[in-house]
Amino acid sequence: MRKVKYDLAPKKVIVEKSFRSAPPMPTIDIENRRYIGSKAKLLDWIFEHVKRECKGNSFADIFAGTGVVSARAARTYNKIILNDLLHSNFAVYQGFFAQEKYDREKVFNFVSHYNSINPVDVEHNFFSKNFGGKFFDTSAAKLIGFIREDLKKRRGELNNKEYHILLTSLLYSADKIANTVGHYEAYFKNSISDRNFSFRLIEPLIKAGSVSIYREDANKLAHKLKADIVYIDPPYNSRQYSRFYHVLETLALWDNPKLSGVALKRPEENMSDYCRVKASTVFADLIKNLETKYIVVSYNNTYKSKSSSSRNKIELETIEQILNSKGKTKVFKKNHQFFNAGKTNFDDHQEFLFITKVK
Ligand SMILES: C[S@@+](CC[C@H](N)C(=O)[O-])C[C@H]1O[C@@H](n2cnc3c(N)ncnc32)[C@H](O)[C@@H]1O
Repeated sequence: MRKVKYDLAPKKVIVEKSFRSAPPMPTIDIENRRYIGSKAKLLDWIFEHVKRECKGNSFADIFAGTGVVSARAARTYNKIILNDLLHSNFAVYQGFFAQEKYDREKVFNFVSHYNSINPVDVEHNFFSKNFGGKFFDTSAAKLIGFIREDLKKRRGELNNKEYHILLTSLLYSADKIANTVGHYEAYFKNSISDRNFSFRLIEPLIKAGSVSIYREDANKLAHKLKADIVYIDPPYNSRQYSRFYHVLETLALWDNPKLSGVALKRPEENMSDYCRVKASTVFADLIKNLETKYIVVSYNNTYKSKSSSSRNKIELETIEQILNSKGKTKVFKKNHQFFNAGKTNFDDHQEFLFITKVK
């Protein structure tokens, strides 16, 4: 009979150094967000083509939105550049992508503290007074406002990465329970959601290479940008992202703005020319100024949408023409039911991917 050798010496336990191991709550991944035009469901398709058609080490995502395209690109490319006009997206990129070290224990302590607070003990604040009973259940809004104020007061106790992990966690946790179809143009008037607020941590991305983060107009950034592959995913219609996500902008900035209208919007800022009649002109200017080896552009075909605000601003032929002036362009397309979150019902939706090898 074979002898079984039992090793009774105590073994050193190696604890997985990830937020997933503790605290005992599920963390939130970067894709776990409702965002108009998010490419989360198209990543396999996009990267199947990009990896085949393009060669290089650096990838710039200059209309990055949620950042999911960059998160996928980070698996392949050493250098990632993210950019978007919105303050809330800028905060999110620092939470998920910034390379600074952080103290997990300290971050967990903030989370445990926030999750132990009873909203009954919390006073009304800017967030609950304005958005409570509308975009959020009043108790949830009290907690969200309290946490945001506390993060502001205690910023000195945190480094930049820790602060942005917590701020991004707040943005995601709040957005998850918002009483909306997925953006802040309007809220459900009849049924206020009573989903409990729980402060959940994001799962920051572990990445070995370098990451640069910007909040600039892509057309200005184009003048100083250096990357082998530039991915361009602009807004497709007249819907301004800074207006649709104004509550997240206010939460990120926490600047006590004067709010107006039924949707309680902050004053206008970061209005994109890609949502205006001049979209083709600014797109041509962007392409002209890019110094890169490959240009990858996402766009879709909602020209015939019943809602005028959902109709495309740039013709597909125009995009191809502009790109052809820069180099040989291939076009790929795919049927795709996108996240629209509005009244628009558009059956024949197709997603386009243009890939240009620059001359
Ligand atoms: C279609 S979304 C990008 C979605 C993103 N690829 C994703 O998967 O989440 C377009 C983004 O462009 C940003 N944007 C609009 N105009 C811009 C500009 N001129 N410069 C930089 N970003 C801009 C918007 O804030 C929005 O997040």
